Amino acid sequence: MARGGKEEGEKHIGLLKLAQTLSFLLIFMAGIIIGLAASSHIDRYFNSLPRMFSSSTHLQTIPFSTTPDYSNCTVIHRDCTGNDENDENDDDGGGGGGVKAEKPKVRDCWSIDGFVRPENLTHVMTDDELFWRASMVPVKEEYPYERVPKVAFLFLTRGPLPMLPLWEKFFKGNEKYLSVYVHTPPGYDMNVSRDSPFYDRQIPSQKVEWGSPLLTDAEKRLLANALLDFSNERFVLLSESCVPVYNFSTVYSYLINSAYSFVDSYDEPTRYGRGRYSRKMLPDIKLHHWRKGSQWFEVNRKIAIYIISDSKYYSLFKQFCRPACYPDEHYIPTFLNMFHGSMNANRSVTWVDWSIGGPHPATYAAANITEEFLQSIRKNETDCLYNDEPTSLCFLFARKFSPSALAPLMNLSSTVMGF
Ligand SMILES: *[C@@H]1O[C@H](CO)[C@@H](O)[C@H](O)[C@H]1NC(C)=O
Ligand SMILES: *[C@@H]1O[C@H](CO)[C@@H](O)[C@H](O)[C@H]1NC(C)=O
Ligand SMILES: *[C@@H]1O[C@H](CO)[C@@H](O)[C@H](O)[C@H]1NC(C)=O
Ligand SMILES: *[C@@H]1O[C@H](CO)[C@@H](O)[C@H](O)[C@H]1NC(C)=O
Ligand SMILES: *[C@@H]1O[C@H](CO)[C@@H](O)[C@H](O)[C@H]1NC(C)=O
Ligand SMILES: *[C@@H]1O[C@H](CO)[C@@H](O)[C@H](O)[C@H]1NC(C)=O
Ligand SMILES: *[C@@H]1O[C@H](CO)[C@@H](O)[C@H](O)[C@H]1NC(C)=O
Ligand SMILES: *[C@@H]1O[C@H](CO)[C@@H](O)[C@H](O)[C@H]1NC(C)=O
Repeated sequence: MARGGKEEGEKHIGLLKLAQTLSFLLIFMAGIIIGLAASSHIDRYFNSLPRMFSSSTHLQTIPFSTTPDYSNCTVIHRDCTGNDENDENDDDGGGGGGVKAEKPKVRDCWSIDGFVRPENLTHVMTDDELFWRASMVPVKEEYPYERVPKVAFLFLTRGPLPMLPLWEKFFKGNEKYLSVYVHTPPGYDMNVSRDSPFYDRQIPSQKVEWGSPLLTDAEKRLLANALLDFSNERFVLLSESCVPVYNFSTVYSYLINSAYSFVDSYDEPTRYGRGRYSRKMLPDIKLHHWRKGSQWFEVNRKIAIYIISDSKYYSLFKQFCRPACYPDEHYIPTFLNMFHGSMNANRSVTWVDWSIGGPHPATYAAANITEEFLQSIRKNETDCLYNDEPTSLCFLFARKFSPSALAPLMNLSSTVMGF
């Protein structure tokens, strides 16, 4: 008994010592951690203060970081291109030339400018990374900068943009209200002059196959890149054969003031519509959800974010919408019908002529371009609603135009289309 008791006592003392040692160790380690945390806070805090603090003895042991390496930064401060307006103003200030040469180029990854409006579209994000980042929505309602809502023009091209001079004419003087994004085949270099709104506006692009999900991937990639600029409010998808048929101010106010987005979305009870639905999409997508529509959409910021954020329904389309089902004609129309129908006008603002029949719409060349033809697109008697009111102004853009149509369109743009 006694022996047992003694053993018990020794065990207790042993445990007590162990506990003491452990708690000592614990306090010691906590001390180290607190110390480290505090010093790193100090480090961070004082690094952001002017150098005058560096003489303090307490801080002398903390190494100051040398010039930060921003070479891998994808968010670049606006004057890193060297052709910033402010630089020019400095020059105007007189005798600034020498000073400007010495002025270090600022590459501030954390400036609000760079965050809300990435100047340089080059980045190395994967689609997953890009879509996630583009899905960010600010909770705070007021913006800490003067936000002028912009229309993002998203060009999905197979290479050259033959209508470029017409678009440049259309955009001229309205640069503050628009942004341009171009998805080309990878490696394709759009050769445009530095003062063009198309200059340096190619997004990191990937291969596209018409009719395959790669096409819808490219549409989402355009949307996501444009979403990174928080000023972009409306997003129009266009091809190289599209042209504007009204002037910029008309297009801008039509889109910015619209209560609805313009995505073609209708139920077609034929083999070209419902016939492309696959029962393998059950139970998530039912036949009565299924819609068809032109891929050339116009959406607002909210819907753009919903589209790039969806993986559940998109992956069903990728798996089960295979030729003769084309995701670009069904995914967005069906997805919006299922969840955001009340925000959609269910019609397109891009005019197209299917009257010739067959799988492709009519293409208009130089010989077809007349004032009467353009007016018939601009004031089409087709009934359409704008903010629930009937209007004759239904179409802002038109397709398809061959490169030869450029010259007569340029000729008629000021007299007929107002730009
Ligand atoms: C920049 O990226 C390259 C290649 O990805 C890498 O080797 C280098 O360490 C990076 N530099 C910095 C400062 O992060
Ligand atoms: C954008 O960044 C890329 C890669 O960092 C660079 O090659 C290009 O010159 C930059 N463009 C501008 C306008 O700064
Ligand atoms: C780009 O265009 C300019 C002027 O039109 C021309 O001189 C130049 O050779 C072109 N560059 C390329 C790579 O095509
Ligand atoms: C644009 O066109 C409309 C008529 O369609 C006209 O009233 C307006 O003045 C034009 N705006 C500009 C800036 O030319
Ligand atoms: C568009 O269709 C949806 C159904 O998907 C409907 O709820 C909505 O009211 C329609 N929009 C308009 C403007 O009629
Ligand atoms: C365009 O003009 C040509 C030549 O006049 C004509 O043959 C063709 O049918 C016209 N195309 C359309 C779509 O009207
Ligand atoms: C409206 O457009 C259609 C083609 O979408 C065309 O057939 C029709 O003639 C146009 N209406 C008018 C009044 O121009
Ligand atoms: C431009 O318009 C004028 C007169 O309207 C016409 O004589 C000329 O042939 C047109 N040019 C082109 C390239 O269509």
